Amino acid sequence: MYSGEKSLLRFVTTGSVDDGKSTLIGRLLYETKSIYDDQFVAIEKTSKKRDLKEVELAYLLDGLAAEREQGITIDVAYRYFETTKRKFVITDSPGHVQYTRNMVTGASKADCAVILVDARNGILTQSKRHGFIISLLQIPHLIVAINKMDIVDYAEDVFNRIVEEYESFSQKLDVHDIVYIPVSALKGDNVITKSKKMPWYDGTTLLHYLENIHVTADRNLVDFRFPVQYVIRPHLDFRGFAGKIVSGTITPGEEVVVLPSGKTSFIKAITTYNGDLQEAFCPQSVVLSLNDEVDVSRGDMIVRKKNLPQIENRLEAMICWMDEQPMILTKPYIIKHTTKSVKAHITRIIYRVDVDTLHRQPVEEFQLNDIGRIELNTLSPIFFDPYKLNHATGSFVLIDPLTNNTVAAGMIKGVPRNIEDYMETKTDDKTEVKKSPHTIWRGLNIGLTDREEKNAHKAVILWFTGLSGSGKSTIAANLEKRLFGMNCKTVLLDGDNIRHGLCSDLGFSPEDRTENIRRAGEVAKLFFEHGNIVLCTFISPFRKDREFVRSLFSTDRFIEIHVSCGIDECRKRDPNGLYKKAQSGLIKDFTGLSSPYEPPEKPEIIIDTRHMSVDECVEILYTFLCNNKYINK
Ligand code: ADX
Repeated sequence: MYSGEKSLLRFVTTGSVDDGKSTLIGRLLYETKSIYDDQFVAIEKTSKKRDLKEVELAYLLDGLAAEREQGITIDVAYRYFETTKRKFVITDSPGHVQYTRNMVTGASKADCAVILVDARNGILTQSKRHGFIISLLQIPHLIVAINKMDIVDYAEDVFNRIVEEYESFSQKLDVHDIVYIPVSALKGDNVITKSKKMPWYDGTTLLHYLENIHVTADRNLVDFRFPVQYVIRPHLDFRGFAGKIVSGTITPGEEVVVLPSGKTSFIKAITTYNGDLQEAFCPQSVVLSLNDEVDVSRGDMIVRKKNLPQIENRLEAMICWMDEQPMILTKPYIIKHTTKSVKAHITRIIYRVDVDTLHRQPVEEFQLNDIGRIELNTLSPIFFDPYKLNHATGSFVLIDPLTNNTVAAGMIKGVPRNIEDYMETKTDDKTEVKKSPHTIWRGLNIGLTDREEKNAHKAVILWFTGLSGSGKSTIAANLEKRLFGMNCKTVLLDGDNIRHGLCSDLGFSPEDRTENIRRAGEVAKLFFEHGNIVLCTFISPFRKDREFVRSLFSTDRFIEIHVSCGIDECRKRDPNGLYKKAQSGLIKDFTGLSSPYEPPEKPEIIIDTRHMSVDECVEILYTFLCNNKYINK
C-alpha cells in the first residue's frame, strides 16, 4: 500500500442457496452508490412487475441468466465498491454443495470471509464446510452474518442460539477472529446503517466492520520469494528475469540465490515499466537483473541467500478434491506450484475430514468436494513454505494431464511425518487444537532476515532430548556460554525451569508431557522468530511430541540432539537423587523406569556422554554450527 492511498480489502461471501447473499451484496453496492441510477430504476420496475413488496436487490447481480432460473449462483464473480475509507473487492462464491471447489479457488486471496446464515434455518452443513475451508485457507477474519432477522422478529434468542452453535463448532477451527452480526439484507438492518430494531445488539454494522479490519499484518512481508516467469533478453547487454514478488521485499545490492541451481549473485537492478526501483515488495511484478551471468529459467525461484524456502520432493498437504472423477493413487498428476509444473503422485491418503464433525476418516479415495490430508511425491523438488507461513509458496493445484482439468487445490503442511501421528493425537493438527478466539496474529515489524543480519548468525532451535541425568542441561548451559561469549543472541529453555512457572500446572502423565512440550515448542518459536539461538533441554520422551515441535520450523532450523548415555549410567549419576526416589516408589511415571523414553530415529546429532567430557560435547555442537553456517567463527 502506498501512503495516502486507500487500503483494499478483499472479502469472500458464501452461504447456502437462499441465504440472501445476492441481496446482501446488492445492498452493499446500492447503498455505497456503486450502481448507476438507471440500474436501480430497472430493478425497481422488475420487482414491481413481479409483485414484490421490496426492491429486489439480488437482481442487480444477475449477470447470469441461469442463476435466476435455477435459484443458485454458479460461478465465482468479482464485484467492486468503495467507501470514503476503503476499496473493496468481493469474491462472490457460490454456496451450493457442488460448488465448494469454486469457493476454494475464489477465496484463497481473501482477507476476510462473510458466511451468511439464514436465521430461520440456523447452522447447516454448508456453513460448517465453508468455515472449515476458511480455516484451511487461513483467511484471518470471519464474519458470520445472521440474515433474515426481520423474518424472526429480530429475536435476540434466535441470534444467540445460532451464535452458540457456531461458536462450539468453530472452537476447533484455526480461525482466530470471528464476529457475529445480526442483519436483514432485505430491509437494510445492520448492513450499512445500525438497526433500530435490535437494541440488544451492541456491535457494529457489517460495513463498519469491513472498513476497519486491519489487513496489512496478515501478509508475508518477510520471506522474499520470486518465482521466475520469463527470462527477458532484449539485447546482448541485458538479461532480466520477469515475475511477481509473491512475498517479502527486495532491494538492489542484496545477495540472492537461484533455486534449484544454488548459484548466488547480487541484485543489480529492479526494473519496471516506470523505471528502476530502489525497493520492491509483494505483490509487485518486476524484472530483476543480477550482477553475474547465472543460468535461470522459468520455474526457478530467486530468494535471499539467508532465507531459503524448503526444497523437497515429498510433501504433505490438505487438499480439496474438485473433479467429478475420483482421485486415483497410481495415476500421475501435474502439480502447478508458483511458476513451476512437475509430475506428481499422490502416495498416500492420510485422512478425509468429515466437515460436519471435523472427525478424520480413513478412506481409499477422494470424491468430488472431499477435503483431507495427503502425501505427495514430485518428480523434481519444489521450493515451498508451509501454507501457514506463506500462502503463495504454500499452495498448489493438481492437474489431470489427460483431461487438463484442475482436480485439486492444495495447501502444503510440510514434509511428511509418520501416519500414527495423525490418527491418535490431538496436538498435531489445527483441526483439533483448541484456539483462543478473537485473537489475530500480529506480524513482527522487524523481520527474521533483518534480525539475523544484525546478529550475524542464524536463528535456530537446538533441541536436546534424553533421559534425566544424561547431561542435556550441562552441555546446553556450557554451549550457551560459549555462544554468548561470541555475542550470539541466545535463550536457554530448560525443562525444570519451565515447569516452575509456565508449566507448573502439569505433571508427568503422557498427556501432561505432551502439553509441556507443546508449550515449550511454542515458546521456543517466539524466541526463534526474534532471531535467537534457542537451546531447549527437555526429556521430551515421546517421538510425536518432538515431531510436533519440529513441524513448527523449516527443515534446516530445527536440530534434534539426542544426549544419550544409557539408563544404567543415568542411574549411577543420579545428580538430584530422583532415580533413587523413583525406585523407592516416591516418584511415579519416572522416565526410563516407569514411563517410556522413545529415542529419536533420525536426530541431527547424537552425543554419547559416557565417553566424552563436557568440553568435547560442546566442541562437537559448536563445530556443527560453524560447518553448517549457523554461526561464523
Ligand atoms: S518432559 O518429560 O515433560 O519433557 P521435562 O524435561 O519438562 O520432562 O522435566 C523433566 C525434569 O523434571 C527432570 O529433569 C526431573 O528433574 C523432573 N522430574 C520430576 N518428576 C519426573 C518424572 N516422573 N519423570 C521425569 N522427570 C521428572
